[in-house]
Amino acid sequence: MLGNFSYCNPTKLYFGDHALEYLNNELPKYGKNVVLVYGKNSIKQNGIYDEVVEILKKNDKSIAEISGIMPNPTVEKLYEGIDIARKHKADLILAVGGGSVCDYCKAVSVSVNCDEDPWEKYYVQFDEPTCEIIPVGCVLTMVGTGSEMNAGSVITNHKTKMKVGHVFADESIMPKFSILNPKYTLTLPKYQMVAGIYDIFNHICEQYFSGEDDNTSDYISEGLMKSLIHSSYIAIENSQNYEARSNIMWTATWALNTLVSRGKSTDWMVHMLGQAVGAHTDATHGMTLAAVSIPYYKYIMPYGLSKFKRFAVNVWGIDENGKTDEEIALEGISAMEKWMQDLGLVMNTSDLGVTEDMIEDIAKSTIILEGGYKSFTHEDIVAVLKQSL
Ligand code: NZQ
Ligand code: ZN
Repeated sequence: MLGNFSYCNPTKLYFGDHALEYLNNELPKYGKNVVLVYGKNSIKQNGIYDEVVEILKKNDKSIAEISGIMPNPTVEKLYEGIDIARKHKADLILAVGGGSVCDYCKAVSVSVNCDEDPWEKYYVQFDEPTCEIIPVGCVLTMVGTGSEMNAGSVITNHKTKMKVGHVFADESIMPKFSILNPKYTLTLPKYQMVAGIYDIFNHICEQYFSGEDDNTSDYISEGLMKSLIHSSYIAIENSQNYEARSNIMWTATWALNTLVSRGKSTDWMVHMLGQAVGAHTDATHGMTLAAVSIPYYKYIMPYGLSKFKRFAVNVWGIDENGKTDEEIALEGISAMEKWMQDLGLVMNTSDLGVTEDMIEDIAKSTIILEGGYKSFTHEDIVAVLKQSL
């Protein structure tokens, strides 16, 4: 661990099939006015909406609702929610849904008491909030993003064709509490389940594939990846297997709650590429990552060869005997590719609606971040995007 860092994660988690009962412990800590935020139909169909509203009423809360949060929430929807939260004088914003709902609530939270335009302030200039923020709580129904225990918030602007994530510096923007009941995830369609599984895996990769030092974070990451691969095979065989789904839920939280990034420079380029593809196609987040990953990792492998070799051996159990480092590293990437195919992930961007003539514009929407084994240029982005088609 050669890095210098601080670590603080204040989100209180309640995990397990009775976790929602603990909403009763949390609600008395906040004022009367709760803004309940959710997506389209899922929580009404599976009964989670009724359970949550019953607890809110029992705790004598005055409820306003923001419904219809779409996957990849938009800036227009954000403006609508800010207005509702202001009118209701929100004391608590309660997200009931997946990463989109939870991210959206954080964006509303930092904007309600802010006079400036939130898109411009948080997603163009990357300023930090200077106003009072509204506390956010989360009841998680879709697993993958880690939004339940981090300060990230991703908003899409279709006009400017930008999908931008702001990871707020202040940990007070993380949810105050998150309720994680693995049973709530059992109604997810398979497409969303596997997209979430790959999102988790890629979050770990983005942190693991950086740095050369001997770092505890990498050992934790390898353990998380192995647990995820193991549980994912059980879950695709039987999506109702509670034990596997609960392990996947817990792994998702730890994959992106800042723990395994400690001491790491981190490489978020797969996410930058995926988000740019998302900005142009509105495709499911995890699938955009899956579609660009193998070309990206093959492209950077020569620059981080020893880490790719370690990944092959420690995560995928590749036999090193009689092989060059390159051969071992490539076998690791091939094993990962096979796992992704076994899950049924989208393996190229053409299947998400990308065509060759879109590549230049997608590349322009791709934010370039440093930290990985290779510094990227516009030409590198175009090359990876072409290979992803
Ligand atoms: O809208 P409803 O009807 O609720 O349906 C949702 C939605 O269509 C459905 N769903 C959720 N829970 C369900 C369910 N369907 C049946 N049963 C349930 N229990 O699933 C669909 C997808 O939901 P969404 O919240 O969009 O998925 P996810 O959790 O993957 O969130 C994606 C968003 O998070 C951002 C992504 O970019 C994207 O905008 N991310 C946030 C991050 C963070 N905060 O750190 C990091 C990630 O890398 C990611 O960028
Ligand atoms: Zn992600």
